[in-house]
Amino acid sequence: MLLQGKKLLITGVLTPQSLAYGVAEHALEQGAEILLTGFGRARSLTERSAKRLKAGIEVLELDVTNPEHFPALTEALRQRWGRVDGVLHAIAYAPEDALGGNFLNTPWESVQTAFRISAFSLKELAVAVKPLMTEGGSIVALDFDNRVAWPIYDWMGVCKAALEATVRYLARDLGPQGIRVNALAAGPLATVAAKGIPGFKSLEKGWGRQAPLGWDARASHDTVARTACALLSDWLPSTTGELVHVDGGYHAIGAPPVEPEEGEGGPSTSSVG
Ligand SMILES: NC(=O)c1ccc[n+]([C@@H]2O[C@H](COP(=O)([O-])OP(=O)(O)OC[C@H]3O[C@@H](n4cnc5c(N)ncnc54)[C@H](O)[C@@H]3O)[C@@H](O)[C@H]2O)c1
Repeated sequence: MLLQGKKLLITGVLTPQSLAYGVAEHALEQGAEILLTGFGRARSLTERSAKRLKAGIEVLELDVTNPEHFPALTEALRQRWGRVDGVLHAIAYAPEDALGGNFLNTPWESVQTAFRISAFSLKELAVAVKPLMTEGGSIVALDFDNRVAWPIYDWMGVCKAALEATVRYLARDLGPQGIRVNALAAGPLATVAAKGIPGFKSLEKGWGRQAPLGWDARASHDTVARTACALLSDWLPSTTGELVHVDGGYHAIGAPPVEPEEGEGGPSTSSVG
């Protein structure tokens, strides 16, 4: 099995719709041992999802805005396992006024919150697991490709661009210890976090028109999970600092297929152009 014997820390499982839930499900099927993280009032949702995944899966406390939680997480992992082989970072949050076309008016306080939770937390998490990745390891961060600007993503997009840069710097600093760090850029999928972004539905709807492989909510959820498991496995041993797209190929195509306008028949017979 792909992940036989691997000890994986999976953050970001909230509901069964969470992208991290699919990763946890496949990781278990592929022979991994997993621990989840949850926090605050949402912790009960994570615990419910953990039970649904498999009896006895433990949920460790991690609110990435609480600096004390990171050394506590290291200690808890040391006690449970003594070693960690892989980590999924599936954490993002932006206040409402940082999303949905409000880019020019978003106050610094909201940007700061979004940045800390959605980008800086990857560095914090990597530092917390580094001492336990004694046999090398793999860190995978869930991303939404932000090499370009999007209509509604605003400061979350800036945070994702920062996350992508953080992946590269972590790859630089952790590579000598045999730790790979990669971003998995997924297409849009309806989760609790995604549904909070105004206009998300139309982005999701249009995705399949431009993606040459198509984009189907349920099937694509599964391909995100399987690709994350591949990145957590030993099968991409020389891949680090990479942005791996799981988007049906959307990123490779400039625009959706052109619909012929009325009167425009088949292919042009003109030699011009
Ligand atoms: N759904 C999509 O369309 C999509 C596409 C590309 C990337 N992503 C990324 O996937 C990741 C997971 O999101 P999702 O879509 O599965 O939604 P989700 O709502 O299921 O998961 C978001 C997670 O972030 C956690 N979180 C928020 N604030 C936190 C904090 N202070 N401390 C610790 N955890 C905190 C939540 O508890 C939750 O588990 C995010 O990074 C998201 O940006 C999602």
